[in-house]
Formats: sequence, C-alpha cells, structure tokens
Amino acid sequence: MQRIFSGIQPSGIPTLGNYLGAIRNWVGLQGDHECLWCVVDLHAITVFQEPEALRTQTREMAAVLLACGIDARRHILFAQSSVRAHAQLAWIFNCIARLGWLNRMTQFKDKAGKDRENASAGLYVYPNLMAADIHAYHATRVPVGDDQKQHLELANDIAQKFNHDYGVDFFPAIEPLILGPAARVMSLRDGTRKMSKSDPSDQSRINLNDDADTIALKIRRAKTDPEPLPEHVGGLDGRAEARNLVGIYAALAGTDHAAVLGTFGGKGFGPFKEALAALLIDKLAPIAAEARRYLADPAGVDAILRDGASRAAAIADPIVAEAERLVGFLRP
Ligand code: AMP
Ligand code: TRP
Repeated sequence: MQRIFSGIQPSGIPTLGNYLGAIRNWVGLQGDHECLWCVVDLHAITVFQEPEALRTQTREMAAVLLACGIDARRHILFAQSSVRAHAQLAWIFNCIARLGWLNRMTQFKDKAGKDRENASAGLYVYPNLMAADIHAYHATRVPVGDDQKQHLELANDIAQKFNHDYGVDFFPAIEPLILGPAARVMSLRDGTRKMSKSDPSDQSRINLNDDADTIALKIRRAKTDPEPLPEHVGGLDGRAEARNLVGIYAALAGTDHAAVLGTFGGKGFGPFKEALAALLIDKLAPIAAEARRYLADPAGVDAILRDGASRAAAIADPIVAEAERLVGFLRP
C-alpha cells in the first residue's frame, strides 16, 4: 500500500476551495492508502500569526478535517510542530537545496510581493520544509491543488541530490495527485483570483463554518454579469464568474459543467443562485454542525492530535535518524 502525505495551513478557517480542491479528495483516498494528514503550523508562521489565534486555528482546522470525514483512527491526523523530525530534516534539506532552485519558486514571489527584502527567511525556505514533511515518512503520493505542483518538483530534486551526494537510494520519488473538477475554486468577488482563507474580504469566500443565512447571502451577492447563463460550455469563455459558479455547482452535485448548463442554461442567475445556495447549504451545513460538535470538546480534539503526533513520530523518527547517520552526524 502506498503512503500518502498532505498538509494544510492553519492560517484561517478552511474554505470551499480547500474542501473541493483538497479535503474532499483526501477523504476519498483513505480507502486504499496509508495516509498522514498534517496541519502545518510551522509553515503558517512563515507569515506572522497571533499566537492565540494560531493555537485556536490549528484546533479548528483539525475539527473541520474530522468533520469532513478524515479518519484519525485508521489514518494519522496531527500538527506539524508536534513532530520534531520535520524541522530536523528540513535543516538538512536547507543544505541540499540550491539558491537557484528556490529563486524559481513562484509562490515565494507571489507571497513576498514587492517588499521581498522584508519577507522572512522561513518563507524563502518554505519548500524545503514541505519536502521534509513528505520525505520524513518516505511518502510517495501527495494530493494537492495545482498551485503546489512546483513545490513537489523541488521535493523530487532535493531527494535526488541527497541520494546522489551521499551515494544512496534512500528517499523515493514522489508523485503529485491533482484531482477533481474543481482543482481551482475562484473568489466570489473576482473570478480571476483564487478563493483564499487569507483574502481580506470575507465576501470573497465560503467558509466551511458559515451558517445557512451567510451562505445564501454570499451567493446572492456573488459577482456575475447581466447575461443569462449560456446553453453550452463554450458560452462560459470570457465569463470567469459564471464559469466558477457553474463549476462549484458541478463539483458539489457530482456532475459536469455541461449537465449544469442543461438545467440552467438560458435562464437568469436568480434561480441558479438560489439552487446553488440550497446545494451548498445541503452539503456544508452538516460539516459545520459536526465541526461544532468536535469543538465543543477542545480537549478531545487535542487528544486526537496528540495521538496522531505520537504515531507519526514513530514512523518519521527512524527515517530521519538514518538520514542524519548518512550525512555523517556522530551519535556518541
Ligand atoms: P492552503 O490553504 O494554502 O494551506 O492549501 C491547502 C490545500 O488546499 C492545498 O492542496 C491547496 O492546493 C488547496 N487549495 C487552496 N485554495 C484552493 C482553491 N481556491 N481551489 C482549489 N484548491 C485550493
Ligand atoms: N504548502 C502547502 C499549501 O500551502 C501545504 C503543505 C505543507 C503541504 N507541507 C505539505 C502539502 C506537504 C503537501 C505535502 O497548500
């Protein structure tokens, strides 16, 4: 059985984009893989987080993952900072990765923005930590949204250079899994930007803990254009907002754009938005309710994460100890 690793940052409430692009696919992979699901708090602090907010968001992220169907008994759910092996291997990888490789990472350029001199060193070496997350478990398959593909290529380059420099065949190649019709869900305010938990406008996204009224209001206010919905998929060209809403409907209903347009094509956005809001409420309300149930017992969520961390460490510690031996560290 292949081992899967994936991570999500506790930098806010997870969104519909995280759900359709990542979490829902993770749940489906649990049937025939051994899975590690990690709330990556070490990655989150590459951009400053209020300490209390970070603690709360880490627990909330775990609760939402559990509510979505992540199985912490048959698989492993844990917080990254609880397993020391990640940071230990990341240091070795900092010494393997070349500056030239990191300079090509588009996410760093996006996140650092214009004031690059003022970005944290952690944000720069973020992909090395991500490589360590995966390789510390010898995981071979990594489900992510397509924005993370470049980081996985770097993780493979690091593994190859380590194996080459130390003359071993220790870290395996990893395969990205980019799944689903909604690998990229866009903002409700601007169909050309990704829906993101860190967008300043709450109206731009559906949060997985939004209540029914909030969801209905956000969909009613979602940006569209004055034309009716097209009858055919080709008619979505140049209409980013319409395409996004139709894509969300298709992903939630388990169909495709053409089938959705078969029902709603030729009609105005009014009835379509009403049906979309009803579908979202139908799918997301049970998740929000279940997450609230978990969060009513914060110590219970913490216990699940603690148990996950100890089982994760049992896998990662010997692998990272062997990497340290290969590098030449003396263990007197
Ligand atoms: P992040 O929120 O950056 O920690 O991302 C966690 C996972 O969700 C990654 O696999 C991302 O690729 C995925 N993801 C984040 N935002 C979106 C989006 N708007 N559409 C689809 N997938 C997304
Ligand atoms: N960088 C990923 C993101 O922002 C999160 C992440 C951290 C991750 N470590 C990982 C994803 C390891 C897959 C595997 O989406």
